Amino acid sequence: MIKINHIEHADCLEYLKKVPDNFVDLVVTDPPYNVSQKNNIKYKNFNVVKNFGDWDFGFDPIPVLKELKRVLKPNGQIYIFCATKQIPLYISVFEKDWFFRNLLVWNKTNPAPRMSKTNFLFANEYIVYAINEKVKPSSATFNFSRQNEMHNIFITSALQGKERLKDENGKTAHPTQKPLSVLKKLIEISSNKGDIVLDCFMGVGSTAVACKELRRNWVGCELDEKYCGIIKERLASK
Ligand SMILES: C[S@@+](CC[C@H](N)C(=O)[O-])C[C@H]1O[C@@H](n2cnc3c(N)ncnc32)[C@H](O)[C@@H]1O
Repeated sequence: MIKINHIEHADCLEYLKKVPDNFVDLVVTDPPYNVSQKNNIKYKNFNVVKNFGDWDFGFDPIPVLKELKRVLKPNGQIYIFCATKQIPLYISVFEKDWFFRNLLVWNKTNPAPRMSKTNFLFANEYIVYAINEKVKPSSATFNFSRQNEMHNIFITSALQGKERLKDENGKTAHPTQKPLSVLKKLIEISSNKGDIVLDCFMGVGSTAVACKELRRNWVGCELDEKYCGIIKERLASK
């Protein structure tokens, strides 16, 4: 059994094994994008981070999706963040075994610069949205607000300033922290107060913070112990 509103320091597959079938109302998760390169780039005085950590190499989503399907209720929903090259895999799995619903775009107003000037900047990240089973869509929680607030695009800056967490040396605490505004919108739309939301790639706990602010329960894990410590501190100050 697993504890609610508690971060577990664990590998996601080990953790998910302990989650009962049909336990979770909603999955909001941000797994590795497999986009890291071995070396960061220094250009004049500017450092461009290309290596997010060992965790961003060789991630295989298939066994994780299988477990997520099992722990999610039949009419439960999933939002999974991904990079451009991962979109075909996620959509093909959701079309075949789940109920694919939409592809959402997070458009960053401040993408990392392209120093080589030989390609476009990567200004978008993506969120693939699906329901677990091919149920009537109206049986899934979907708190639709106004038409003009329900576009499948979120336009906001990548984290900077106060929202970007810093470590004890004043450096960025996590290289791929996601904005609370985007997470809160997904959670508000696809769950109700008291529901259980799962994130098995917690990073510095943005999903947990969004849930706490919205009075949803959350469960999840993170592989890196240092990030687990930051999550605990972050939640304690809320
Ligand atoms: C993209 S980041 C998530 C960032 C998070 N959304 C946030 O705002 O802080 C992915 C996280 O998954 C963790 N991770 C990678 N492989 C994992 C695994 N097998 N099990 C659990 N966590 C893992 C990494 O340590 C990293 O912190």
